[in-house]
Amino acid sequence: MTYENEYNEWLRTPDEFWRQQASKLAWYNQPTVGHESVDGQSQWFADGTMNTCYLALDHHVLNGRAKQAALIYDSPVSGVSLTYSYESLLDLTARAAGMLIDLGVSKGDTVIIYMPMIPEAAIAMLACARIGAIHSVVFGGFAAPELASRIADAKPSVILTASCGIEVERIIPYAPLINEALRLCEHEVSACVVLQREAASAPLHEGRDFDWKTLLERSGPVDCVPVNACDPLYILYTSGTTGRPKGIVRDNGGHATALNYSMGSVFDMNAGDVFWAASDVGWVVGHSYIVYGPLIRGCTTILFEGKPIMTPDAGAFWRVIEAYNVNTLFSAPTAFRAIRREDPNGVLIKKYNTESLRRVFAAGERLDPPTQVWMGEKLGVGVIDNWWQTETGWPICANLTGVEDLPVKYGSATKPVPGFDVRVLDESGQRCEAGEQGKVVIKLPLPPGCLMTVWGDHLRFQDAYLSQFLGYYSSGDGGYVDHEGYVFIMGRVDDVINVAGHRLSTGDLEEVLAQHSSVSECAVVAMRHELKGEVPVGFVVLSAHDNPENVASELVDLVRSEVGGIACYKQTHIVHSLPKTRSGKILRKTLKSMLNHEAYSVPPTIDDPSVITELEHQLKGEEYEVSR
Ligand code: COA
Ligand code: AMP
Repeated sequence: MTYENEYNEWLRTPDEFWRQQASKLAWYNQPTVGHESVDGQSQWFADGTMNTCYLALDHHVLNGRAKQAALIYDSPVSGVSLTYSYESLLDLTARAAGMLIDLGVSKGDTVIIYMPMIPEAAIAMLACARIGAIHSVVFGGFAAPELASRIADAKPSVILTASCGIEVERIIPYAPLINEALRLCEHEVSACVVLQREAASAPLHEGRDFDWKTLLERSGPVDCVPVNACDPLYILYTSGTTGRPKGIVRDNGGHATALNYSMGSVFDMNAGDVFWAASDVGWVVGHSYIVYGPLIRGCTTILFEGKPIMTPDAGAFWRVIEAYNVNTLFSAPTAFRAIRREDPNGVLIKKYNTESLRRVFAAGERLDPPTQVWMGEKLGVGVIDNWWQTETGWPICANLTGVEDLPVKYGSATKPVPGFDVRVLDESGQRCEAGEQGKVVIKLPLPPGCLMTVWGDHLRFQDAYLSQFLGYYSSGDGGYVDHEGYVFIMGRVDDVINVAGHRLSTGDLEEVLAQHSSVSECAVVAMRHELKGEVPVGFVVLSAHDNPENVASELVDLVRSEVGGIACYKQTHIVHSLPKTRSGKILRKTLKSMLNHEAYSVPPTIDDPSVITELEHQLKGEEYEVSR
């Protein structure tokens, strides 16, 4: 089979192609229909019934994999390593599902999971799937206000959490964050279940909080609840262009089909192989390729609570690969850049036996060619870039290594994966020529596994993704396709920035800066960063004659407490005025280019050209730059 054959087969008979992929799963009722559009909503396999947890666990236990390792937890930060067989993971999940039922959770209810990288996070997700409840995992690094906005939107009946997270050598107690978030959003939950960790236990609020282990011991296992293919499996919030995060809704049937297909065709993984996505369950990579994808495929998945460096050194990844015979590693380019910076000669790589490793995959941000080349040389395996988003849930463009390993072109995520008809359009909606940059869009319908809607706001879904070019999904990314069909993604064309593979909204950060009493106006733009890809930088106009250094320092603290340390907000330029058009629109693109020392253009509609001259002077002299 060649890539061309596979892609063309999909293109010729898309419904048939996906029905065939779906038929590889153990449905309760096999779907007879493929894609349908019902009341403006895209649906896959509408007459199929199944259960995602059944596919991930029960099916394998019933088919000879009971004793195989399903999940290996490796935690350098807590010094723990545990292996869960399919049988034991099923037992714990079925009892966690029983615990949810005892707490009154039933099919269609929402549950927030706010947990660090511990096995219970995966168990919690699978337990929700088992009873048809809709989980929403919130990344443990988000501060209370971000958690609050997600709770307010998802309206969970129950929150599943832990007593603390562990960041290298810093303990992060979760109880104050949960309490503050619940206070801010004024949403009442019927229960908060807390997994007490050894590193720090949490005080329990009488009547609201319950101890995970006590409840689990009392709960009996429950069976899988059949759900419709189109019933939601989860909501995952992601940054949009405004401060309000978007709740991406994923279905059950399309999701399982797409993940099973991608595990085979993109990642070349089969049952029994060991797959490691070094990410976090709070991100889409964690959902798709720490929890659901590898388990549905019958692989062993690694859940790693640590960092690529510092836990304890830049050899952490190679130690794990050797210890568990990892076949495929997936992480963000930032992680690889961090390793390369610490260990440029790959001395720590040589310390370990990495022979089991077949390939390395990178996504979440652009994989810069020097890092890709370095990884390939030092590890002696293929390093594969793949482009996708929270919205799509699985790769849009990649090298289909399970079908045909195409030659790598540095800087490109290779070619569109079957299911995705990727095009590049100019502002007027015309297709760009090969090599010409434009907006990257996907012709509708989207394949199985992509977002169905935005939770509670279908109009926002249509407006954000489908309204710019009729008949196309707008990815928000810019790029081009070369004459051989290789796709190059060059970066966001909207106000979303990518910090160490984490997606943030500059609009959200601007709202936070504007809360400071001395800030009259502000703009946040992305500055290129050697390690993290991009970091946010604020341009701030003060309303009072405050000491700029004090304000800059307070803004750093404000972003940490409102968004979290992961925003990496450290730099502020205090300016007299912001460049604007006559209609009052801030010229963020110009600001960004100036900040990154790139050629920039000033639109003729600028209100006051002298602001640009002043900024130029300031950015050269950096007389008002304040960092911390
Ligand atoms: N809970 C609480 N705080 C967290 C956190 C979490 N889960 N994750 C990160 N933070 C904090 C960090 O402690 C750090 O705080 P500090 O400013 O006080 O030091 C801050 O947020 C920034 O974190 P991070 O970006 O992780 O920086 P780092 O310097 O600790 O680590 C890297 C640098 C490169 C090792 C790290 O960014 C990394 O592993 N990146 C890969 C990202 C990734 O896997 N993305 C997923 C998409 S595939
Ligand atoms: P997220 O939804 O957090 O996964 O972020 C998705 C965004 O990350 C995309 O819209 C891109 O801007 C960026 N991204 C992800 N993978 C890649 C890649 N391989 N190359 C370039 N950008 C990427």
